[in-house]
Formats: sequence, C-alpha cells, structure tokens
Amino acid sequence: MNDIKLLAGNSNRTLTESIAAYLGIPLTKCQVRRFADMEVFVEIQENVRGRDTFIIQSTSFPANDHLMELLIMTDALRRASARRITAVVPYFGYARQDRKPAPRAPISAKLVANLITRAGVDRVLTVDLHAGQIQGFFDIPTDNLFSAPVMVRDIKERLDLNNVMVISPDVGGVVRARALAKRIDAPLAIVDKRRERAGESEVMNVIGDVSGKSCILVDDIVDSGGTLCNAAEALLARGAKDVRAYITHGVLSGGAVARISASKLKELVVTDSIQPTEAVRVANNIRVVSIAPLLGEAIGRTAKEESVSSLFD
Ligand code: R5P
Repeated sequence: MNDIKLLAGNSNRTLTESIAAYLGIPLTKCQVRRFADMEVFVEIQENVRGRDTFIIQSTSFPANDHLMELLIMTDALRRASARRITAVVPYFGYARQDRKPAPRAPISAKLVANLITRAGVDRVLTVDLHAGQIQGFFDIPTDNLFSAPVMVRDIKERLDLNNVMVISPDVGGVVRARALAKRIDAPLAIVDKRRERAGESEVMNVIGDVSGKSCILVDDIVDSGGTLCNAAEALLARGAKDVRAYITHGVLSGGAVARISASKLKELVVTDSIQPTEAVRVANNIRVVSIAPLLGEAIGRTAKEESVSSLFD
C-alpha cells in the first residue's frame, strides 16, 4: 500500500476519506481550488514521482466543474511523473447520452471518455455504468464495479426475502434488476411505460403479479425521482404491500428529495457514489449505504495487480 497515492477532487471528499481509512493510508496533500474567474487550479503538494496514483472524483453536480477538476488533476499528475494514474469515477456523469437517439445529437458519454483518456489517465474504475457498453468507449482498461453485493447485504439484513419481488422501473433496466433478483432468489416484475398516442399521458403497465408483495425497485440513477415515484404509484395501485427502492447513484436534482419524501415510497436506499446533500441526510425516507469498502478493496487489488472481477464471484 505504500506505493499508493490517493487524491481527492471536490466532488466527494467524505467518500475519499472513507476509502483512505479502509486502505489505512493518508490522503495525498493536494489543493483543488478556483481562481477569481472560477478557473480550476490544482497544486499537488507531495512528491508523486513513480507512484501508483488514484484520483477519486465523481462527475456529479456541478458536472462540468467536477469533470474539469478531474482532467486538470490528471494533467498535474502526469507532468509530475506519476507512474500510473487511475481515475476512480464512482458516478460517471453524461452516461445517459450514450447513443444518437435523434439526428444531429452528440454522443457525450464518448466525448467525456475521450477527454479523460487524452488527459493522461491510464485506467478507469467506476461503478454501475448506465450502460455496460460505455466501458468500450474507453480504449484503456476500465473496471465497472457493481454495487449489487452492497445492496444485497442490506436487503438480506432488513427484509423477509420470502415475500420480496424485484421490479425494474422501465424496460431498459430489466438486465440490472434481473441480476439483483437472481442474487436474492426473488421473482421479477417490470413496469412498462407507454404513451399510446402522441399528446396523451403515459400509461403504466405492470408485467407480473405484484399483489401482496414487498416490492424493491432497482435502478442505476434517480435524478428527478419521476421514474421512481410513478413506478411506486403503479405498483401500489396493483396491490403491492409496500415499495422500496435500491438505486446506485442518487443524483436527486431539483425538487427530487421533496418529491420522494412526499411519495408513498417506504424507503429509497442510495449509495454514496455521489456526496449526499443535507436534504438527503435529513430526508425521512432516504438512506445512504457506503461503497467505500468496495472501492477501497478494488483500489487495493488494482495496486497489487490482483483480480478485481473476483470481488463479485
Ligand atoms: C434511465 O434510463 C435511468 O436508468 C433512470 O431511470 C433515470 O435516469 C431516472 O431519472 P428520473 O429520476 O429523472 O426519472
């Protein structure tokens, strides 16, 4: 572990400190601040020559600032002769723009992957990418960790698995939800949103019998909370006993926390891939589980050139 240098951007200091504690190493002294005109300024205050360096930075809100911090920290490490630079990006923003859904649309996820690579990153460590294929947008080694073992542990500790049903809140999330259902040996149902005709409101169909079941919605991102709250309503309307949600990345923009607090959702569990705001911390039905041990373990194994995938066997 003596070879590792761990550096924190401003996106998630608490998570970085927890990872450092897990690994039993101090954070490398580094200032990441702003000039008067808000340009990012980075100063690494320790020797990193020949060291195995890890920058912890989610590209969460404000996404552009945090991305720029990551790029400039990478540049600073490269010019300071770090031996290897790993970008640990627990939440990879821009991931939802991963294809061209309409003519003349950008593929921003690919552009961001290019920016990170060109800045000088040697490898990437991330968690629950919105789509697995984004891994291939990087032409450098990229490990996409799964938060599922953390979620499964929490579910097993708290719920009676005999009456649980895992739910995908939309058709696009079925693979992710099925994987979690398999781990806890639970059945799967799917919420299918459809707009029958242009101008008419969406109809929520539920594929599967959820009546009397304790439902667990599984997704990668909760942003406005719309997908989640609508799915919870649809499930309860079809006789579900109660509805919880386990979602990796709590983006929770705008009025999302208020919306979720006012909803019929029994509980939303998110990870600390994105630093929870004060509103999240005090919300009555939102709980945060930490992925610091998962990331710490993956970083330690990367440094020792050990298998990371075996973490999920
Ligand atoms: C979409 O494909 C994602 O997996 C999430 O379902 C979506 O980003 C959630 O967004 P919101 O909370 O704004 O409905």
